[in-house]
Amino acid sequence: MTISPQISLTNVTHAYQTQAGPLPVLNHLNIAIEKNSFTAVVGPSGCGKSTLTRLVAGLMFPDEGEVRLHGELVTSPRATVGMAFQNPVLLEWRSILDNVILPLEIVPNTLTQQQREQRAHELLTLVGLEGFERKRPSELSGGMRQRASLCRALVHRPEVLILDEPFGALDAFTREDLWQTMHELRRQEEFTSLLITHDLRESVFLADHVVVLSGRPATTQYVLEVDLGDERDLDDLYKPAAVEMLADLRHQIQIAQGREVQAPK
Ligand SMILES: Nc1ncnc2c1ncn2[C@@H]1O[C@H](COP(=O)(O)OP(=O)(O)O)[C@@H](O)[C@H]1O
Ligand SMILES: [Mg+2]
Repeated sequence: MTISPQISLTNVTHAYQTQAGPLPVLNHLNIAIEKNSFTAVVGPSGCGKSTLTRLVAGLMFPDEGEVRLHGELVTSPRATVGMAFQNPVLLEWRSILDNVILPLEIVPNTLTQQQREQRAHELLTLVGLEGFERKRPSELSGGMRQRASLCRALVHRPEVLILDEPFGALDAFTREDLWQTMHELRRQEEFTSLLITHDLRESVFLADHVVVLSGRPATTQYVLEVDLGDERDLDDLYKPAAVEMLADLRHQIQIAQGREVQAPK
């Protein structure tokens, strides 16, 4: 018996219909992601990465090919998916705790209000936001808001966490703190991650596999297995194994951008 991957895209092809005609965005894309693994997707700007996340979340459907979550064809938005984006959309009229609880008010569940608050509190503590439960979003820094948004994405224990450049707008130090928070969340919670990023160091620090997409229309150009183990710290990024992987990825991105550097004659 073969176990189907948690997320699979098979021969996915998609075009947007625009006034100027069809815009092909994805071209026979194939990606398979195992349960509880962490996959990062990198690729040139505008190549179709966010489109890919919408297809996995069931917010859109491909023209051709199949998107499956745990073997089941995705035909509608899934409650088993949690999402976080570059700009955490938190509701200003709700406290941080009430923002985090929101999915539990939408996704069917049998939790009491007290259990919901307990669950939100547990996650907020895990990401270092204990004591900020009653604050409003505007009272928090960008990094803290993004932490809260990760909690909200995970509060209903989704099987799949989709992150679309969630750390892209943060300064470098805050971003690295958030990477460590992501590691901690992974240690404590169970979910399969799909991260879109343009930061190659981020992809190597967080992921088990890095998928490089070609330029638009995107297809799977290259897959890197990151064998740095589960216990990673930031220093590892400066060690030979990671440096080599980063050079490899940078080279692949140059190919994807159509400006591969020729070896000097
Ligand atoms: N709803 C839409 N209608 C038409 N074109 C779109 C739509 N969404 C995205 N696009 C275009 O499709 C391409 C891929 O978009 P996107 O998936 O957001 O790329 P990425 O996230 O890799 O930057 C871009 O050229 C973008 O302008
Ligand atoms: Mg995008």
